[in-house]
Amino acid sequence: DGYGAYHLLRYSMGWADAEGNAIVATEGKALRPTLCLFACEAAGGTLERAMPAAVSLELVHNFSLIHDDVQDRDETRHHRPTVWATWGDAKALVAGNVMNLVADASLAELVQKSVSFEDANRVAGLLTQAYLEMIEGQYLDLSYEGRSDVGMRAYLGMISKKTGALFRCALNVGALLGGADPSTVKAFDECGRHLGFAFQIRDDVLGIWGDGVATGKPVGADVRRKKNSLPIVYAMAKARGTDASLLKTVYSSETIDDEAVDSVLQTMDRLEVKEYTEDLVAEHCDATLSTLDDVKLSPEDRKDIEELCHFLSVRQH
Ligand code: IPE
Ligand code: IPE
Ligand code: MG
Ligand code: MG
Repeated sequence: DGYGAYHLLRYSMGWADAEGNAIVATEGKALRPTLCLFACEAAGGTLERAMPAAVSLELVHNFSLIHDDVQDRDETRHHRPTVWATWGDAKALVAGNVMNLVADASLAELVQKSVSFEDANRVAGLLTQAYLEMIEGQYLDLSYEGRSDVGMRAYLGMISKKTGALFRCALNVGALLGGADPSTVKAFDECGRHLGFAFQIRDDVLGIWGDGVATGKPVGADVRRKKNSLPIVYAMAKARGTDASLLKTVYSSETIDDEAVDSVLQTMDRLEVKEYTEDLVAEHCDATLSTLDDVKLSPEDRKDIEELCHFLSVRQH
């Protein structure tokens, strides 16, 4: 295989099949680079200035997905076998590392896009900090697996690192490169914080009640894998008496059969967990928009961010 590790990278991006032929597969949503470019343009900069940072964000995100699927033992992503399921763990780890370094290489282009050395250095530092935080969050996520004592605070802290860090950084760095003043950069950062929560909590909802055809995962998938997603953490915190002991029993048993998944889903219905999590998504979407109230945005930019919030709260995959 003449392309070496790059073949695996092209596959994971959805650009090639397992044999290396160019294809049109389901690609990711490219949310992080889109947010970065959006903030840069909204702050008055050209798309070009933020492109290397946007590329870096998307590649690091994809690197984290390649490794995440190894860690989660997930065999399917974007309706296709994952990299490790196709080439094995060892090569998937290398592919992830290569993706990470290609992302780093992209940052060297910042200075070629008429960004000062000082700003380029600052942006590289912010990105590295966010990447580190994302991986710290990933570690926390893994360490919470199988535990039934993860509270809401700990869980929200974990997702603000695992997912929030890149969303925040995408908007923050985009605004910075667009030439925004410090208070505007701060507003975009705060906007990313709420957007990250809205996105991840919606993701957690889909992990349990998502339509398998759209998500590529069966209903109750996260319950079956004993994943500590927000609905579960909330249910465990809210449950009393028999509901509480049922959740504890199911989560502490070795394997979960269909019947157990059903009983957890029914308990969640009784506790109105879905309503609670959906309200939380809506709250963060509202907060996302209000953080930008004092930022001067063109009507088109305002409409774009409103549509994105709407999309994030109703998305099915
Ligand atoms: C998935 O992110 C990983 C999480 C942080 C939940 P995305 O949903 O943004 O991934 P894409 O769109 O498949 O790239
Ligand atoms: C995604 O997390 C990985 C990182 C953000 C590091 P998840 O495991 O929750 O996401 P999916 O469901 O596999 O996309
Ligand atoms: Mg995963
Ligand atoms: Mg994971």
